[in-house]
Amino acid sequence: MRKLLVTGGAGFIGSNFVRYAIDHTDSAVTVLDKLTYAGNRRSLTDLPQNRMTFVQGDICNASLVHELVRGQDLVVHFAAESHNDNSLRDPSVFVATNLVGTYTLLEAVRRYGVRYHHISTDEVYGDLALDDPNRFTESSPYNPSSPYSATKAGSDHLVRAWVRSFGVAATLSNCSNNYGPYQHVEKFIPRQITNILDGGRPKLYGAGSNVRDWIHVDDHSAAVLLVTAEGKIGETYLIGADGERNNKQVVETILELLGKPHDAYDHVTDRAGHDLRYAIDSTKLRLELGWRPIFSDFTSGLAATIEWYQANEAWWRPQKAKTEANYARQGQ
Ligand code: NAD
Ligand code: DAU
Repeated sequence: MRKLLVTGGAGFIGSNFVRYAIDHTDSAVTVLDKLTYAGNRRSLTDLPQNRMTFVQGDICNASLVHELVRGQDLVVHFAAESHNDNSLRDPSVFVATNLVGTYTLLEAVRRYGVRYHHISTDEVYGDLALDDPNRFTESSPYNPSSPYSATKAGSDHLVRAWVRSFGVAATLSNCSNNYGPYQHVEKFIPRQITNILDGGRPKLYGAGSNVRDWIHVDDHSAAVLLVTAEGKIGETYLIGADGERNNKQVVETILELLGKPHDAYDHVTDRAGHDLRYAIDSTKLRLELGWRPIFSDFTSGLAATIEWYQANEAWWRPQKAKTEANYARQGQ
């Protein structure tokens, strides 16, 4: 049985990954999560508790991290401050968690010789023009725009330096925008779904022409498990499911699935420095490791996600009013 430490396992992707790993492997999972505003212990309560140990703590706490990393077979590092809008309000915690936290984990896996997988984002490459025929590949230059993406880019560089300088056995993956259950209501898709369920209207930043490349969170989890099993040490794999759509199209689909008029949304203040378009070319992952996305139909994945938010109001309701109050202060 493989011993697996998952950081950020109470967050959106981390909790879905823990569920996926328990369902698809015989791993014994330890979750290390600080339970910031974005972490939710209830995202893990339905899982078999004999397969998972939960530790509340900070990845910047070196003694705790060393104690937990020692004796593991693998660390998968999801924990991060993840929201671009928050990084524009207060970047400090992004520097602490995303850079110092990653450094702390790298020193621990280096010391105990533990295999490490680093979860990163397509945002490290900056953005693309709407009509650019190219997509991001593993050799695209780093060009992050926001404090969030700059700290994620820095953390990727730390990992590569620890591989080359100290022989740490690490792989990296950079994924596009995830959707699915257990995503915080601050993020685009859950915010619009829960606005409508609350009798309100979706909020589109600017004209709504910005493009994101959507992937279902379970397809991301499958890719990460595959890279931890068969990826080459020191290599980076881009994860994406050919899911490009602009924000206006996504909002119109959500409105249609919920039986509302397709134009029942508001335009609000745009995000400062708003990246125009992300798009992933995942040829390397597909050809070298044989990965394929299962959720190829975005509309049915979105419909299932809407059903999850309809059925799980108790999960998202406690976060909703505070999140909307934060947005309202910025005209969003
Ligand atoms: P999230 O904000 O939903 O969850 C982050 C989790 O990390 C939370 O449970 C939080 O409590 C925990 N955390 C934060 N600071 C911590 C600290 N100092 N110590 C321990 N735990 C801490 O984020 P997410 O959307 O699930 O993203 C997870 C990872 O995936 C991040 O590294 C993010 O950069 C990356 N990523 C996200 C997406 C996406 O679309 N959401 C896409 C590509 C990559
Ligand atoms: O690309 C991967 C990244 O995707 C991850 O690294 C980040 O952790 C994750 O948060 C996500 O970043 P984005 O900034 O793309 O996601 P967000 O959900 O905040 O916004 C998606 C798009 O929707 C973006 O163009 C901004 C827009 N938006 C967002 C909100 C919250 C709106 O138009 N209205 C909104 O209310």
